[in-house]
Amino acid sequence: MKRSLFMSLVVAALACVLAVPLYAAPKVPADAYTFKAPEGMKMTKSLVKFPHTKHAAVKCADCHHKKDAKGNEYGKCDAKGCHDNLTAKQGKDSYYAAFHGNNVKSCIGCHKAKKAEKPNVPTACDKCHPKA
Ligand code: HEC
Ligand code: HEC
Ligand code: HEC
Repeated sequence: MKRSLFMSLVVAALACVLAVPLYAAPKVPADAYTFKAPEGMKMTKSLVKFPHTKHAAVKCADCHHKKDAKGNEYGKCDAKGCHDNLTAKQGKDSYYAAFHGNNVKSCIGCHKAKKAEKPNVPTACDKCHPKA
């Protein structure tokens, strides 16, 4: 085989290997993942931990149900155009309602619905917001 052809095959093979991560599924955060305070929001409760592995039975897209304004499919809940209303307690854009709303998409809403089947799901305030 000609040396130049060999080299271009090596380069092509390398390009394939390097391109793979672009198409692979995103890395799911470790179970120690803790929410960060949205910019400019004064927090009154302790920050919440969210363990992805405990939610493996739920489809990614059920929670990550909308791309953010930058086109990121797995952005933060408070991303612009998502649950970015930091003061309202209700409504689609309400940050608070995303987690406590009375519907199966919110943390509490789904946990209440699953309580009979999975008694370990946290529904009390200090189970998610532990007191220091
Ligand atoms: C299933 C988990 C869960 C439960 C139970 C829960 N919350 Fe939350 N709460 C969250 C998440 C997630 C956030 C947003 C991220 C964060 O604050 O760490 C949040 C944010 C908040 C905020 C806005 C941020 C702040 O610190 O001021 C308040 C207020 C709040 N929760 C109050 C409550 C109260 C009161 C209860 C009990 C009625 C409660 N939560 C129960 C998950 C929960
Ligand atoms: C039960 C709901 C739920 C499911 C199911 C879920 N996630 Fe998440 N994911 C979250 C929440 C809540 C956050 C934290 C968002 C925040 O900090 O505002 C998060 C954060 C992330 C982040 C980090 C985002 C960042 O900017 O740091 C990635 C990446 C991610 N999830 C990928 C996935 C993938 C891939 C799947 C499916 C295998 C998945 N998630 C399933 C709720 C979920
Ligand atoms: C669509 C349903 C659904 C949503 C939405 C959901 N959860 Fe869960 N969650 C579950 C189920 C089901 C389990 C129990 C998994 C098991 O034990 O097999 C669970 C378990 C947990 C646990 C582990 C409890 C333990 O110690 O075993 C935590 C913590 C938790 N969820 C936090 C959250 C937070 C915070 C949110 C919102 C950001 C959230 N969940 C949203 C269904 C949901």
